[in-house]
Amino acid sequence: MTNTSPLAEELALPCGASLPNRLAKSAMTEGLADKYDRPTPELIRLYETWSRGGTGLHITGNVLVDPRYLERAGNVVLEDDSALDLFKEWAERGQVGGNQLWVQLNHPGRQCPKMVNREPLSPSDIQLELMGNFGKPRAMTEDDIQEVIQRFANSAALVKEAGFNGVQVHAAHGYLLSQFLSPKINQRTDKWGGSLENRARLLREIVSAVRESVGPDYPIGVKLNSADFQKGGFSLEDSEQVATWLGEASIDLLEISGGTYEQLSLIGVEPTEVRESTRKREAYFIEYAERIREAAKIPLMVTGGFRSRDVMENSVKKKEIDVVGLARPLCTQVNASRDLIEGNIEKLDDFEHQLVLGKGFWGNNSSSNLIKAINGFGQIGFYYWQIIRLGAGLPPQPAPKTFRHFVRHITNDAKLNIRRKFR
Ligand SMILES: Cc1cc2nc3c(=O)[nH]c(=O)nc-3n(C[C@H](O)[C@H](O)[C@H](O)COP(=O)(O)O)c2cc1C
Repeated sequence: MTNTSPLAEELALPCGASLPNRLAKSAMTEGLADKYDRPTPELIRLYETWSRGGTGLHITGNVLVDPRYLERAGNVVLEDDSALDLFKEWAERGQVGGNQLWVQLNHPGRQCPKMVNREPLSPSDIQLELMGNFGKPRAMTEDDIQEVIQRFANSAALVKEAGFNGVQVHAAHGYLLSQFLSPKINQRTDKWGGSLENRARLLREIVSAVRESVGPDYPIGVKLNSADFQKGGFSLEDSEQVATWLGEASIDLLEISGGTYEQLSLIGVEPTEVRESTRKREAYFIEYAERIREAAKIPLMVTGGFRSRDVMENSVKKKEIDVVGLARPLCTQVNASRDLIEGNIEKLDDFEHQLVLGKGFWGNNSSSNLIKAINGFGQIGFYYWQIIRLGAGLPPQPAPKTFRHFVRHITNDAKLNIRRKFR
């Protein structure tokens, strides 16, 4: 029997490669590296498990281009070929199901915890004020900027050499490239700041250096915010223009998300201006994506909030988007993509709505900062716990115990930091 779901259709990418279907696992940081930031058997097992679940494209959690600046301890770093055999095994076993496996490359900029580095880098010296977890950044020099460009290009070449099928540059969620794009955080007066053209220069130079290092036939994706949802931040109009430039640079897949650590719209904490019509449509960034689609003539993936099969199928059928991005549901339902494509399920898990202590979750009516922190870390801890279990070869354990996951998360994070500090 042929499968008639639009989600089952192949997608040809501009570089000549193709995705076997329209479902993608979006990046989720795993925290499963060893104390030398290398892939572990647990990380590789996790991807083998996911690979067998029917998702056409898997994008790894962020892999860092510089060991001095991590998004969290437990990140994998790829800066030279010293552990390339481990990366080769990861690439091979993560493709056993016939899917594509791409590596997301990232530099955290100022969103690098103090436990990793007390003086992170950023376009300007504007500190991220979030419970004292982040140091005051040093404004990058011209040499720092050139080094970052080189690091992305070098890591991308290693990704290809290891046997992964593509690379995604992380320019969303308030990390370094998103900091450069934001007029609020980037207050430089040289050619890397000011106008949008200047703020987007670093991203564009990185994309072009990565293209040079991987060649014309290799998939390159970019994850971009539709907006930061912050006053004076990166706006939808900015995003449309950047998407146009990325289209001209012939990238292969543009993934749309949104928000930063300060505005967690990436996991559905609503920006004030979210429209009722968007809320009804489930996927947080779909309306923004429609506008960006007009601007950029490249395959578009949208991530954030997709939970119902009919919403996913309609978005693809109506050509609003090309690829549906899924993250959290795949932590508790590793075979969700196959089940969606075969029509076995209508709705995916959404435990996030159950992981709430007190009333609002990071919303206006949350009772206190402590409750907000417990809810935030409890929710993220729930998903990290599923990832840890899958890496250990165990089934998911989706008990929505917010406080327990909060405690487990901070304990595990402290352990990862201490292990790395005293290696
Ligand atoms: C545990 C966890 C880790 C994440 N790590 C990353 C990451 O490394 N890189 C990234 O671009 N997004 C990351 N995200 C965001 C997801 O890719 C995705 O944009 C978000 O979860 C919304 O999609 P969903 O509603 O399908 O979960 C992470 C999200 C979660 C829950």
